[in-house]
Amino acid sequence: MKPLLLAALLAIPALNANAGDYPQALQPSGRFSVYGHGAAATPPMGWNPWNAFRTEVSQARMLEVVDVIQRSGLQQAGYRYINIDDGWWLKRAASGDIEIRTSMFPIAGRADGSTSFRAWTDQLHARGFKAGLYTEAGRNACSQAFDRHSPNLPIGRVAEREIGLQGFEASDLKIMFQDWGFDYLKVDACGLADFGEGSEPVLESGHRALRPLIVRDDAQRTDRDAVETRYARIGRLLADLNPDNDYVLSICPWGQAGVRDWGGQYGHTWRTSPDIEPSWESMLHNFDSASQRELYAGPGRWNDPDMLAIGLGDFDADHLVEARSHFSLWAMLSAPLLMGFDLTQAPDALLELLRNPEVIAIDQDAAGNQATLVIDQPPLQVLVKPLSVPGERAVLLFNRGDATLQAQVNATQMKLAAGQPFSTRDLWQQRDFGSGPGPLDFTLGPHQTIMLKVSGTPVAGRGRLLSEMTGRIHVAADGLRSYSTNLAAAAGTPRADVTPYGEPLRIAGTDYHYGIGAHADSRLEVRTDGEFSRFSSDIGLQDGPMDQHDQAIFRIYGDQRLLFESPPMTVGQHAVSVDLDISGVQVLELVAADATARKEALKTPLVTWADPRLQ
Ligand code: GLA
Repeated sequence: MKPLLLAALLAIPALNANAGDYPQALQPSGRFSVYGHGAAATPPMGWNPWNAFRTEVSQARMLEVVDVIQRSGLQQAGYRYINIDDGWWLKRAASGDIEIRTSMFPIAGRADGSTSFRAWTDQLHARGFKAGLYTEAGRNACSQAFDRHSPNLPIGRVAEREIGLQGFEASDLKIMFQDWGFDYLKVDACGLADFGEGSEPVLESGHRALRPLIVRDDAQRTDRDAVETRYARIGRLLADLNPDNDYVLSICPWGQAGVRDWGGQYGHTWRTSPDIEPSWESMLHNFDSASQRELYAGPGRWNDPDMLAIGLGDFDADHLVEARSHFSLWAMLSAPLLMGFDLTQAPDALLELLRNPEVIAIDQDAAGNQATLVIDQPPLQVLVKPLSVPGERAVLLFNRGDATLQAQVNATQMKLAAGQPFSTRDLWQQRDFGSGPGPLDFTLGPHQTIMLKVSGTPVAGRGRLLSEMTGRIHVAADGLRSYSTNLAAAAGTPRADVTPYGEPLRIAGTDYHYGIGAHADSRLEVRTDGEFSRFSSDIGLQDGPMDQHDQAIFRIYGDQRLLFESPPMTVGQHAVSVDLDISGVQVLELVAADATARKEALKTPLVTWADPRLQ
């Protein structure tokens, strides 16, 4: 039996009195606390020369590629940002301003001997593109650590070679955005990581040593808060410098320093992993670094598993199956689509692949819901991405392995009403075929994906499942923050339709197909925008082999007002059904607070918001 408890009866004063005892992170904010500025309503699309040219980049090479993007229809398909990466700087002049390497970018030279990218950005803007630049949060750039024999490194005395933002944040960013007219900035972090006392770049190139704030793959020795503070400042400065809001901030600490948790508060995209290599394994690794982070992405904030390796190595024109899979996976993740190879060398088949309007439309869907993994049984994975038109979903069946396999996906997994007809379109073959209600069945060759758009009756009727609007959820606090690892793929963060560890949702023996699995403590903000009148959910502790002493309290707030509070609940206790009036509510907050009396270190209850719906 699940007693239906009404909000009014459950606002228990005795527990309210203790609200101040709970961590600040669990207090309702009354707002949707994401970055909110800038121009990344959909994931940025464009081209970046790094994977093609590294520091051998030049204006001439870039413009050849720009010509191809324009001629071949890629620009029209949505690729707009033309980004300069590492290697463009000559030195920091005595004035403090940065000089551009005019041997690479002659367009930047001016008659008085100074340099400026204004003519470059003007040219790109005149051709209908946006212009991107690259910089570094610390004093020195990645090339100064990893491309130390490049002829294109900054020159001069130690201070002249310090071309990163550190100490020059306000003036550099002003020059880049207001004087030079850029629209996009990638801010790397090697300067915070790779220039420690005794490091090679310091010993051999004489750079000033900096206590590393990031120690790669070592969360204990990484100063997460200090890194977060740096990027927060950059995000604020960019918001101030761009009153027209036409800019993108790409945060690049490669999944380190907890950036996957906080990136969306200070910028638009954040790298979830190391640099992509053009190999199948690297692509999978980078995909995995973002594929369980569906509650972190949404309009204006995107997980970034790095640029596309299409055209290179395992994804070249002889490997179109792999190239299609890579592209499809990035589209399902709502990842930035930044091409990264020399398009002057691209055969038509690759250009056509990168132009596929139906796959791009999935990446760019306005709802900004990152796909969730509905089947995660490697080598088979199935992902479902609810689109902005109710009842439309992108569905991807993916074979990670080297052998052929059978794959099936049913209406329930696609969040469609069981037994109702649905129609199906293959987005790579660009053809419609038969309609459900039965499950879809496919044979997948090695490394193959089938990417579909399916249209049917949403399972929640005219209402919405919370887990089909993940783009409107922000994970404001996560119970595992204090000891989550930097890079582990799952690391127990809140998830859609499964527990933080990928298990089915279950309360007191009852299974739920849909919901949010989280830890207590946790706080989720939901952008309801006054569009809904009711919120309903079953709530309870997740079944599992956990401590029977675990207890959690559930609280629901609408615009900071407490609408519901549960008594302390225990593992195995039947779910409580909640049904609340949320008319006019702009931001709904779902809080689960750990209320366990005797706590073991590093242990925190798992809670389940089961079948949560908005009507
Ligand atoms: C880092 C970044 C790459 C690229 C290089 C440039 O490795 O992750 O994307 O920008 O630096 O040196």
